[in-house]
Amino acid sequence: MKKTKIAVTGGAGFIGGNFVHYMVSKYPNYMIHNLDSLTYAGDLTKHESIETKENYHFVKLDITDRQSVLNLFSEENYDYVVHFAAESHVDRSITDPGIFVQTNVIGTQNLLDASKEFEIKKFVHVSTDEVYGELDFDPTTFFTEDTPLQPNSPYSASKASSDLLVRAYHETYKLPVNITRCSNNYGPYHFPEKLIPLTISRVLNDEKIPVYGNGQNIRDWLHVQDHCSAIELVMHDGSNGEVYNVGGHNEKTNLEVVETIIKALGKSEELIEFVEDRLGHDKRYAIDPTKLENLGWKPTYNFETGIAQTIQWYVENQKWWKQIINGEYQNYFDKQYTLK
Ligand code: NAD
Ligand code: DAU
Repeated sequence: MKKTKIAVTGGAGFIGGNFVHYMVSKYPNYMIHNLDSLTYAGDLTKHESIETKENYHFVKLDITDRQSVLNLFSEENYDYVVHFAAESHVDRSITDPGIFVQTNVIGTQNLLDASKEFEIKKFVHVSTDEVYGELDFDPTTFFTEDTPLQPNSPYSASKASSDLLVRAYHETYKLPVNITRCSNNYGPYHFPEKLIPLTISRVLNDEKIPVYGNGQNIRDWLHVQDHCSAIELVMHDGSNGEVYNVGGHNEKTNLEVVETIIKALGKSEELIEFVEDRLGHDKRYAIDPTKLENLGWKPTYNFETGIAQTIQWYVENQKWWKQIINGEYQNYFDKQYTLK
């Protein structure tokens, strides 16, 4: 019997990489293909422990290369597509929006066309709560699946555009799809341009932490393993055409997050440096996950345990992030931040 074959795009990145590990170990009878072009955010060293497994295979693929996408899908006969590949960093989208449109919009359209032509069973589009825009600081308000799309950054606008294309392929061509919209993830292999790994790696190096504005913006943190189990559930049991929000009610101000990390590593709060605010900086994100909980999902991490384990992981895996904060990353960092 043919094995269920899953194309995971962006499987060399942070969340896609964790999802590949999760699926390879949990489903020995599935074949997991990791489709990734290996941009600055992708690396395969995180898959060294699974690269010889029979149910894992890497394919170097740029999703903006339409013909290569169509050729691959014609050869492989995928059952599921779980689409993570994207340009994912808001700050980079502010300085260089063009590639966000190319990868996140055109790349998604190429995958949708290939999925339609080769009749996949389900296309799971991994999106973000940022497509809903921002909430104010009233703690009783949340994003639901019915919140209107009001993206504020070029990144979130490109993700919202791709969400609309996914929806349209369902309405027009009856392509079986789901869209998931998750809050901020954290955990192992998080690229050190993002707040939590940036803070941990810099605190470990006794370097200043750039905090935007007054540090009072709020994000709703979810451990990446809980995001993986949510996607697994939606892939198998999500109703066609539906959107599912993913979040675990872990709202923290940025300053609280940074202070937690500094304290856990026994360093001084003098490492904090307040810097110019991000342009168009969204005030607050907070997810109402009721619809996904009704499908059977429950997060397993609270923030306190999750962040302690994550800090420990970065302490033990310095080789991984130290190889990343050289080269391209250092150029990016020097352009992005002017620290005293
Ligand atoms: P990431 O930046 O760590 O990884 C992105 C991956 O996509 C990399 O491996 C990169 O090489 C690959 N990629 C980029 N352009 C490509 C192209 N043209 N062709 C093939 N591969 C390409 O991103 P992440 O943080 O793991 O996010 C994954 C997905 O989840 C994204 O779609 C993002 O919008 C969404 N998301 C992220 C978060 C978060 O907190 N990180 C939260 C909600 C949703
Ligand atoms: O909500 C989901 C989104 O979460 C995903 O769609 C994005 O792909 C992901 O990058 C993340 O976006 P954010 O912009 O929320 O994450 P980031 O880690 O860049 O920033 C988190 C908060 O910390 C935000 O309010 C900005 C602030 N910040 C960030 C950096 C990098 C700082 O204060 N200083 C920094 O140096």
